[in-house]
Amino acid sequence: MTRRLLTPAEVRAWRAQNVGPVGFVPTMGFLHEGHLALMRQAKSECGTAVASLFVNPLQFGPDEDFGRYPRALEADLAKLESAGVDAVFTPGVADLYPAGFDTRVEVGAAASPLEGAVRPGHFAGVATVVLKLLNIVQPRRAYFGQKDAQQCVVIRQVVRDLDVPLEVVVAPTVREADGLAMSSRNSYLGPEERTAATVLFRALSAAERTFRGGARDGEGLCRRMAEVLSAEPLARPDYVSVAHPDTLAEISGEAGEGALASLAVRIGSTRLIDNLVLRSG
Ligand code: PAF
Repeated sequence: MTRRLLTPAEVRAWRAQNVGPVGFVPTMGFLHEGHLALMRQAKSECGTAVASLFVNPLQFGPDEDFGRYPRALEADLAKLESAGVDAVFTPGVADLYPAGFDTRVEVGAAASPLEGAVRPGHFAGVATVVLKLLNIVQPRRAYFGQKDAQQCVVIRQVVRDLDVPLEVVVAPTVREADGLAMSSRNSYLGPEERTAATVLFRALSAAERTFRGGARDGEGLCRRMAEVLSAEPLARPDYVSVAHPDTLAEISGEAGEGALASLAVRIGSTRLIDNLVLRSG
């Protein structure tokens, strides 16, 4: 039975009764197989798994999709139950941001390029809520998906810089059969857009093939991705990038093993992101 916890005080009380190692999976809900894979990993590695469902207003810009972000609490609770999750924290906005709340966790260089450049304030919102959730849940390990590669880099930076006593685990992106990375935002796509959305993975795969073929110039790899995207009429790229996987500094010369190819593309009014770590084999 997944125990539902509504407030930070309820989580603390539950933790006082459950003192062993906890694996924690923070989410914004509308759970898909990518989330559930993280839950199962947390459960098998830590023995006790805790999730959170919270659509965090702090990480959405004024023109973004906070209001229409998909929510499906009852279905999510059933999925958590079947994944064997022990407890789920479902706070309301006022539980995490009561009147007078006035602190932000600002991360430096890692939060500036890519998503940070297009979505000002986004990573301060992510870092702030994640640090709060970690302080409340006090897990041994916290689990995140590689699909949000920059988020993972930002969270690792926060954990390192602020001496948060836990291990950050990043799990591989879970994809649909045609390569589209699973994301709650895929639910916005109409049928034609859903077909067009495969262009993200096709562009990344083209960069990967080029890299494996020995052409490793960062700018050339970006051009290859842009070329594939330009053949899809419904796709409007925000950026394509080949960057250092730890610093996210853009690579203009030769990209090394493990370089991060990433992109953000609008398909109609839906903005999708994806990435691949470039490896030679
Ligand atoms: O990746 C997400 O779903 C969110 O950014 C997170 C980590 C739950 C913080 O709100």
